[in-house]
Order: sequence, then structure tokens, then C-alpha cells
Amino acid sequence: MHLHVIFPLAISLLLVLSPAAVRRCAAQERTDDAPPYKPLVSPLARDSATSLYTISIQDSGPLVVDLAGPLVWSTCTSDHPTFSCSSRECASANGDGVTPAPALAPRPSCRKRPNCACTAHPCNPVTGRCAAGDLTSSPMSANTTDGRSLLPHPVSFSTVASCAPENLLQSLPAGAVGVAGLSRAPLSLPSQLAARRGLGSRFALCLPGVAVFGNTTIYLMGFPLELTAIIGRTPLVKNPKRSGDYYIPVVAITMVWTSRDTPAALQPRALELDPATGRGGVTLSTVAQYTAMRSDVYGPFLQAFDAAIGAPGTVKKVPEVAPFKLCYDAWSLRPLKRLGWDVPIIRLELAAGASNNWTMYSGNSLVQVGDRTMCLAFLEMAAGGGSDDGPAVVIGTHQLEDNLLVLDADNEELRFSGILRGSGATCGSFNFTA
Ligand SMILES: *[C@@H]1O[C@H](CO)[C@@H](O)[C@H](O)[C@H]1NC(C)=O
Ligand SMILES: *[C@@H]1O[C@H](CO)[C@@H](O)[C@H](O)[C@H]1NC(C)=O
Ligand SMILES: *[C@@H]1O[C@H](CO)[C@@H](O)[C@H](O)[C@H]1NC(C)=O
Repeated sequence: MHLHVIFPLAISLLLVLSPAAVRRCAAQERTDDAPPYKPLVSPLARDSATSLYTISIQDSGPLVVDLAGPLVWSTCTSDHPTFSCSSRECASANGDGVTPAPALAPRPSCRKRPNCACTAHPCNPVTGRCAAGDLTSSPMSANTTDGRSLLPHPVSFSTVASCAPENLLQSLPAGAVGVAGLSRAPLSLPSQLAARRGLGSRFALCLPGVAVFGNTTIYLMGFPLELTAIIGRTPLVKNPKRSGDYYIPVVAITMVWTSRDTPAALQPRALELDPATGRGGVTLSTVAQYTAMRSDVYGPFLQAFDAAIGAPGTVKKVPEVAPFKLCYDAWSLRPLKRLGWDVPIIRLELAAGASNNWTMYSGNSLVQVGDRTMCLAFLEMAAGGGSDDGPAVVIGTHQLEDNLLVLDADNEELRFSGILRGSGATCGSFNFTA
């Protein structure tokens, strides 16, 4: 090849490559669209291999939804921008949970200053493994909504996020690039959207299907009424030792069937949260698949369900299928027109201040494990795991699926629909068209 051919080629390569590299870093400092900001809506999908849920909001790929997660984190390109170790963002990421999310759009630097790039500590909610990663700015996009369908213009914005090494993705769905923490912590996704977009720290989750950030009405196709106004409400409880997590004030658990109540014979205050130690209480998880109960709660709970379902003598018990403890022959269960199977309803009785108790029907309480075997979809917490200072009950996704949940940390309130099946709507029936 002659020199005069190579030379222009080299020049044009330079012209193509170098501005692109610069642009890639600069592009992560997005200017927010103008206020007043509209509520945002993103699809939630279930990964069948892991039973985890992902949200499509980050430009580089889906993020696993972690209701108890304090940070947004993902793998990064090598030219990611960084924050200074003396920035407010760095204080929020590493603080005591007191430094609130900065109210302005993040302004990271493209030039990494050695020794003074902020390090965050993202953790994998499934494996529990943590790693160190640069705090960076993560480009995101979402559609805006009026609560019924999409508004014409999608928006792009940045959030403060942590980089994480590729191996922190272990046990997450194939294709997921990180985790979206939705806790009350200052750098969780809803806290950042609240601080910078004035959306209020209110968001709705409906698994699997849709997440909505902001103070908005919500309609699902198949059901004519606005949902947030008519569903149940309960005060949220805060655990001083795990201040990001969402707890609900459950005081008793009762099986309700054929108009008879069978309460689980729990020790007094078995479900109570001890604010001094952080032990006990009932919390919500989008990472645990099945609700897990501390042994002293699980035993009486199983007994009550077994007694309630056994009372009429029509339901045939079959050998248990691990990890479940109570299983039934589906052919002995009576199907209901709209609500699955006719089995005892599990009623979580809520403390004063709630508008309703939380009732779980078969769609949330049973799981099919074979052709004709249905099991009670609740697990005993592993001994030691959480028994010492963990929650008494962690409500998992099998129990939250097809339920609309609206978490409102500003008002310390949870709104909950119970299973939507039977109403005509499902979590998959949000109208994702303009
Ligand atoms: C907005 O919604 C449209 C239609 O559902 C979809 O194709 C597009 O990817 C969405 N945009 C964002 C940023 O989520
Ligand atoms: C949410 O919206 C409703 C109706 O527009 C309004 O009355 C209420 O004050 C808003 N709440 C917050 C926290 O902004
Ligand atoms: C929950 O159930 C208990 C027991 O039946 C009842 O006393 C209480 O009033 C119920 N709470 C609400 C808010 O309906």
C-alpha cells in the first residue's frame, strides 16, 4: 500500500474514533428535560430461569429489581465518568443514609483523578457478594405516562450509579447488567427520581408487568376504575437498623375458609419488629421467590393451614415435594370461577391505621409442582439465616405477583390491591401504547 493511501486512512480513522470516544463519556452527562416532570413508566419482566424481575430503564440493559437495594449498579465501559471522592454523591453512596440525593442532575467528570475517584460498594442481592466500583453516572430512558397509557415523549436522564465488576452479575438473569435498588436509601432509583424530578418518592410495582415512578393515578386495561384510589392502604413501618427496607405492621395471620377462621397460634408479638435490635417484623422482597417465615412463625402457620383445609375432609393431601411442606392433589380441589382454587384464604391482619387486611388467594398462596400436585408456597427460613436479627417474615414475589403495590415513603404508606386476577386486569395489562 502506498503512503498516500495509508495516510488519509489514518487521518479519517482518527477523525472517526477520537471524537466518538470523547462523546461517549460526555453523553453520560445528560441534561434533564424541563420541569414539571411527568411520571415515568417502565416495563418489568420476569426471568423464568431465576424467577427474578428486571426493569428496562437503563440504556445498557435490564436491571434486576431489588426492593431492599440501596443503590443502582451495573457493569461499566472503561471510559465511564467518575465522581470526586469529596462530592455529595460520594457521601450519599457511602454515608449513613443521611446525606440525601443531590437535587441537581449529576455532574461527573470524564477525567478520572487518581486517588480521588469515589468508590461505592454494590452488593448482589442473590449471592450476598459485594464488590468495590467507581461511582458513575448512568444513562437512562423511560416513557412518561398519565397513568393510563404513554405520553408522546420518552425522556432521557442520568442517575448516580455504581460500576461493578462483571463477576458480580453471578446468579442474575442472563442479559441483566446490574441491579436497580428501590429502597428508601438516598441513591436508590426512586429516591433519585424524587430528588431530581420532583416525582415524590412514590412508585408502583405490579409484577410482572409495570413500574410507575411518581404521583399518578393508575389504570389497567380490563378494569374500568382508577386503582390507586380504591385499593387497600396500610402505614409502612421503618426498621431503625435497616432503614431502607419496607416493613408492614402485620399483627396476626389467620386462615379463612367456609366462613370459619383458623388463626395461626403464634407466640404473642411473634411478628413484631423490635426497634432496639431490628429483629422481627414483616418485610417485602422482590428477590426472594417464596415467602419465608422464621421457624416459630412457620410451624403454627402450617398447622393452621393444614387444620383449615382438612376440616371439610374433601381435600386430599399428597406427599410433600421439597422445599414445600404441605401439598395437595389438585383433582381434589374445587376450581373457582375467577380466583383459582377454593382453598383457605390467608389473611395477614394489619395493625390499626390500615384500611383492609391483606388477603391472599390461591394464585398467591399455592404453587403447582407437578401434573396434579399443588403445594403451599411458603418456606421456613434457614436456621441461623435471619433467625437472630432478621425479619420474622419476608414476603416474596410469588405472593406479590399480580398485585398492584404503591410504595410511598414520603407518607410512610403502602397501597396494595390483593390479587388482580378476577378483576379483569392483570399486571401485564398496562397500556404501553401512546
Ligand atoms: C417507549 O414506549 C415505546 C412503545 O411501547 C417503546 O417502543 C420504547 O422503547 C419506549 N421507550 C423507552 C425509553 O422506554
Ligand atoms: C398527588 O396527586 C394528587 C392529585 O393530583 C394530589 O392531591 C396530591 O397532593 C399529590 N401528592 C403529592 C405527595 O404530591
Ligand atoms: C382484620 O381482621 C381482624 C380479625 O377479623 C379484624 O378485627 C380487623 O378489624 C380487620 N382489620 C381491618 C382493617 O379490616
